[in-house]
Order: sequence, then structure tokens, then C-alpha cells
Amino acid sequence: MAASKPSAGLAATVVCVASWNADLVSSVSRPLARGETLMASGFSISPGGKGSNAAVAAARQGARVALIARVGDDDFGRMGLALWQAEGIDARHVEQAAGESSGVAQILVYDDGDNSIAVFPGATAGLDARHADAAGELLSACQVVMASCEVPLPVTQRAFAIARAAGAITVLNPAPARPLPDAVIALSDVLTPNESELRLLAGLAANAPLDVAAEVLLARGARAVLVTLGASGCALYQSGQAPLRLQGRSAQVRDTIGAGDTFTGALAAALARGEPLLEAMACANAAAALSVTGHGALGGMPSLAQVRSLMAGDTAR
Ligand code: RIB
Repeated sequence: MAASKPSAGLAATVVCVASWNADLVSSVSRPLARGETLMASGFSISPGGKGSNAAVAAARQGARVALIARVGDDDFGRMGLALWQAEGIDARHVEQAAGESSGVAQILVYDDGDNSIAVFPGATAGLDARHADAAGELLSACQVVMASCEVPLPVTQRAFAIARAAGAITVLNPAPARPLPDAVIALSDVLTPNESELRLLAGLAANAPLDVAAEVLLARGARAVLVTLGASGCALYQSGQAPLRLQGRSAQVRDTIGAGDTFTGALAAALARGEPLLEAMACANAAAALSVTGHGALGGMPSLAQVRSLMAGDTAR
């Protein structure tokens, strides 16, 4: 799978239907028990939101990126707008919603780098199909459109329908996991769940084999299921083809916030460059490994040069 549309001049190559959150990140030694108070050893406020993170990842991988998003008319909203300007991301289709708060994520990062996240979507919850219609020109001209399940499904469904009708590739990161209608799954060229999200989407038990779960989603119309496996890499499932597995890379883990978003954004950027799905998967795998080496969602998110240099080491070996 590779983008086959003629390049649309200076139009965005990747459009992201994006959630935006300010991440309030506390470092604690371990997960809290119910009712427990634990002293944190560190705290920071940093940019987040699965959509915005993936958009920044794609931009750092060289894609021209545009957003469809909503932020509150508050300091956190202005933080998002400043970030996208700094990253060269087109925010003309970002609505600043008067009287609304921006999305906020409260994140606990544990000593081993893993985390737990609670998201209040704020202004993101007001995205609907009309926002996709208003960005119809953008969606019809792009190579890849991506979204996560942090944005309401109707806006994703409409954006994917418009973009696919114009020949673009659609990529859905189904996180946080929730049951999805067949119509959305069938509009997704590539789904990028992690293992637990995959099983939940397929409606299977927590110990169901991954290939069985992937088959369920392929049968429901997804064209490819690309499962992220954390430190173990990723696996690609396509109908009628043997699964393909890429090993993970060893990395000095600071925290894993945004690793899945980096994977999705880097994948979208590579597909928009016209790379076949397998090569795009390798770029995404490398980008995700680099992303865990920095703090917060964006701290370790790599440039295209960093990803290429890591991958060049593979061929030199
Ligand atoms: O995937 C990581 C992201 O999830 C964080 O940035 C947080 O905002 C939540 O959306």
C-alpha cells in the first residue's frame, strides 16, 4: 500500500483529525491503589493528545501536515496553537471554541517508564462531521488522513469517506479502544492498535491470540491491521497473506508517552512519501523506538534524519 495520487503541489500531504490535550505529567514510583495518595517525584505540563502527537510525529518525518481540531479559548489552547506553528503544521482548520476548556490529560509515569492516562476531552468533544465537510478541499487533496479514537467517530467517519473517495489512504489509531461500527472499520486502510486494543476491538478475551483478533477486523473490512507490540516491535496482518513481524529495538526508556502516536504519525508520513506499507512499517517501528528515549509525548519524537540513521545501522550490520 502506497499513496498513488499525484502530488498536490504545496497542499498538506497528511491531514490529521486531531485531539489536543495539555498533558499534566506526574512521576510516581508505581501505580496507585484505589484511595491511595502517593508523593510524586516530578511534574511537568507538556503538549499531548493522540492526534496532535501523531501530527507532530508526521511533520518531524517531513510530511506537510494539516489539522482538523478544536481547542479551548484558554492558555492550554494557545499552547497547542504555538506548538503547531513551531512545528510548521497548518492549523487553519483548528477552531478556537469560545467559552470551552481545552482537553487535558492527567498522566502518571512510573519508574519503569510505563504510564496511566485519564483524558478530559474538553473542546475536542465538539468536533463533528461539519468540521470534516469544512475541510473537504484539504481532505480531497491529501495523500493520507489519520485519526484516533480520542475524537468523536462522526468526524473521523466523514473525513475518511471524503479522503478515500479522492484516493487517499486512511489510518486509524483505535486508541483509547472502544467498540467501533463496521462502517468506520471498513473505511480504515490501516488500523494501528496495540495488543489490548486489538482484542477489545475484535470483541475477544484478553488472552485471545493476536492473529485471531486481527482476522476479525480484516473480515469486518479493515485492509490492514498493524499491531504495535511495545518493546517487542510490531506485526502486520493483511487478508490472505502470512503475518509479518518486525522485532523491537532496544532503547533507553525514559517514558513511553506517545510511542503509539509516534508510530502512527511516522507511518502516515512514510505512506504519504509513497513508501510501500512494509517500508512504512519499518520507519514507524524505528521512530517509536526513538520516541521513548525522551520525556513526555514529544521529547524523544525523532526527525526523519534520526530515523534514517537508525535504520542505516540495520543495513550496515
Ligand atoms: O498517547 C499519549 C497521549 O494520550 C497523551 O499525550 C495524552 O494527551 C493522551 O491523549
